[in-house]
Order: sequence, then C-alpha cells, then structure tokens
Amino acid sequence: FQPKPLKGKRVLITAGPTFEAIDPVRGITNLSSGKMGFAIARAAVEAGAEVHLIAGPCELPTPLLSSGKITRTNVTSAKVMHAAAIQSSDCDIFFAVAAVADWGIAKPSKEKIKRQGGKIPALDFVANPDILLDIASTVKTKAGKPHPYCVGFAAESSALAEHAAEKRKRKGIPMIVGNIGPDTFGSDFNQLLVIDAAGSKTLNKADKLQLARQLVQLVAKKI
Ligand code: C5P
Repeated sequence: FQPKPLKGKRVLITAGPTFEAIDPVRGITNLSSGKMGFAIARAAVEAGAEVHLIAGPCELPTPLLSSGKITRTNVTSAKVMHAAAIQSSDCDIFFAVAAVADWGIAKPSKEKIKRQGGKIPALDFVANPDILLDIASTVKTKAGKPHPYCVGFAAESSALAEHAAEKRKRKGIPMIVGNIGPDTFGSDFNQLLVIDAAGSKTLNKADKLQLARQLVQLVAKKI
C-alpha cells in the first residue's frame, strides 16, 4: 500500500446522471446518485492526484474542495458533458463513471408542451456521443501515450460479467468495472467486478468510498 500513488497525476472523472430536456419542465434521465463517481474523486485526491470532476445533476458536495486539488464542472446533457470531458482529456487516468443517457431528444421544445386533448406527443430521439469511446479511441496525451488509462463502468440488469467484458472490448479500454447489483443505485454500498486484460477480480461489498480507495490503488499499479 502506497499512500500517494497518484502524486503528480491528472485524473478526469465523469459522475452522476445526464439529463436530456424534452421541454423546459420535463426531461429523461438515468438512475445514478453520483455517489460512486464522487467517492472515486475523493479517493483520487487522497492518493495525490489533481482531479477534474465533471458532474451531471446531483446534489452531492464536492469532496475535499479545500485541498485545492479538485475542480468541478456541473453539466446537464450528455452533449455538454462530452464537450467538457474532451476539453479535459489530456490527463493520465479517465474514470467514466457517469450514467450517460444513450439518446437525447432530437428537438427539445422551448415552451412547455401543452396537453393536446387525448393526443399523446411523440418524441424523436438522437444518439448521444459516447464520451468514453471518443476519449479511448481518439485522444492522445501530451506525454505521447496513446490516451489516458481509461476505466469504464457497467451497470447491467443481467449477465454482468459477459456484458462488462464485451463493453471493455467494444470500447477498446484496458479496464471495466461492473456494479454487482441489484441495490447499488443511490446506496452507500456497492460490490464491484473489476475486469482487465489479466482477468477479473471481485471487490467485496463495502461502502463506496472504501471500494473507490481499493480501485484507485489497483489503477495506480497499472500506470
Ligand atoms: O455500453 P455503455 O455505453 O453503457 O458503457 C458504459 C460506460 O461508458 C460507462 O463507463 C459510461 O460512463 C460510458 N459512457 C460514456 N458516454 C456515453 C455512454 C456511456 O462515457 N454516451
């Protein structure tokens, strides 16, 4: 165990859900409290890193703000989260913890959509950009490395290990972390399945900060 294994490293984290507006008072979102991503932000600062935390709508306070080692950007839509993340992607490690909405609304209405008698409005969706895929496949760091060490997350309703392994390959990332459900959303506890080229490892049920600290130690050994 090293107390500051990420000293001098820059870490980018996306956390929380995204919110895709339908009109000024309605939207669609994903289930995510932001707790896991914020715990990783805290653990990374504790480990000596400089952290940029890009957060979707969630009520959590910025961890270790007084350390001066963490910057937070609040965003709403996936598109805006994508732009903020790309801007900050020249870093050493990227933890993509956010539950990003896969689809946004094609043409959000500027005015509240009124009831139209019995007629139910139809929504047209457009695909959102994939933040993790874009950073893993296109970003080069100044140090000349191909891209930051990318850690993806997977929350699945079934066959977690298979889906997570498939995601790791499809996104071309070295590590993916599966949330072993079913009660992780909003909970202070979690259980993680960490998959990389060497195989998989379970981090047993613990509070999210303890798990975040273990995960940061694992990742620090990889870079
Ligand atoms: O296969 P899926 O897209 O659900 O993979 C989830 C992983 O990809 C998570 O790490 C999530 O943060 C990231 N992701 C992303 N941008 C998206 C969708 C997912 O960064 N538009």
